[in-house]
Amino acid sequence: MVRPVLIFPAGMPRSLAYLERALADGQRVIGSSSLGHDPARVRYPEWAHLPYITADDFDEALRRVISEFDIGGIFTPNPVVWDYLNRCIAQAFPGVALVNTSPVVSEVAPYHKALQFGATVLADPLPVATDGPVKSSLSALEIASLFRHAESIPGMCDHEKIRALCELFRHAPTGDVVEIGSWWGKSAFVLARLATCYGVGNLLCVDPWSNQHLLQKDEKGLVDRVPVNADEALTHTFTHNSLSMFFRLRDGDRAMTEPPLSIPRTGHWRGCCIVCCL
Ligand SMILES: C[S@@+](CC[C@H](N)C(=O)[O-])C[C@H]1O[C@@H](n2cnc3c(N)ncnc32)[C@H](O)[C@@H]1O
Repeated sequence: MVRPVLIFPAGMPRSLAYLERALADGQRVIGSSSLGHDPARVRYPEWAHLPYITADDFDEALRRVISEFDIGGIFTPNPVVWDYLNRCIAQAFPGVALVNTSPVVSEVAPYHKALQFGATVLADPLPVATDGPVKSSLSALEIASLFRHAESIPGMCDHEKIRALCELFRHAPTGDVVEIGSWWGKSAFVLARLATCYGVGNLLCVDPWSNQHLLQKDEKGLVDRVPVNADEALTHTFTHNSLSMFFRLRDGDRAMTEPPLSIPRTGHWRGCCIVCCL
């Protein structure tokens, strides 16, 4: 049987995320912190108090907890605790391993990946057959921030599509941008951001956002049995992403659930216009 993991400090968001995964996997975990009253305590099945890492008796107290719960691993998203334990765990706490990699490295890794993406887009642009005017490209940092935020939105717009769109918008004529099929809003975010950066125009998102229209009637029913909820996609995820810091719909931007010719209802919201056919 896998030995228990100590999570310290237990109230940090990454600790709580680890706790959820561990409990789902049936891993025994012990929460721990140095606070007199830690609001996270109620979320843990077992708990142990430890002094602050700067305290003289920290090592001794940790050894007691390790022995009491037969701890085999320690998860810590705190960079100072991680660095300290990483340096001394083998000698000071033999038989116990750090279960996560450096929090500093893992926190910044997605930003490095995004910067790398920005550099690749600039170094290897999609060849576009057009003889019209071409706008100068966004900087690597601007493309990186676009990519980084798009990655936080669930959806089907993959890296190559983002890369292609980054180049296509440099050649796009001025005018409204229409997206057919927005779902959670991943590609909508990319389109809205690029349309803003390149001064192309407003974005119009068209989607029925209805479970009935999601039915593909595929032969084996593999697609249709995936549990998705169109109402949730619209009211929670799309709206949430639309309101997020980087995806401000501007006056004139629209989301609609049917083609423009049959618009029975419009709703105004935060300086933009959502058009719904319900
Ligand atoms: C694959 S998802 C879109 C993914 C999205 N573009 C992204 O980046 O993640 C397809 C979407 O098309 C929508 N859809 C299906 N039939 C449609 C139609 N006739 N007109 C417009 N949208 C439609 C569905 O409701 C669904 O939200």
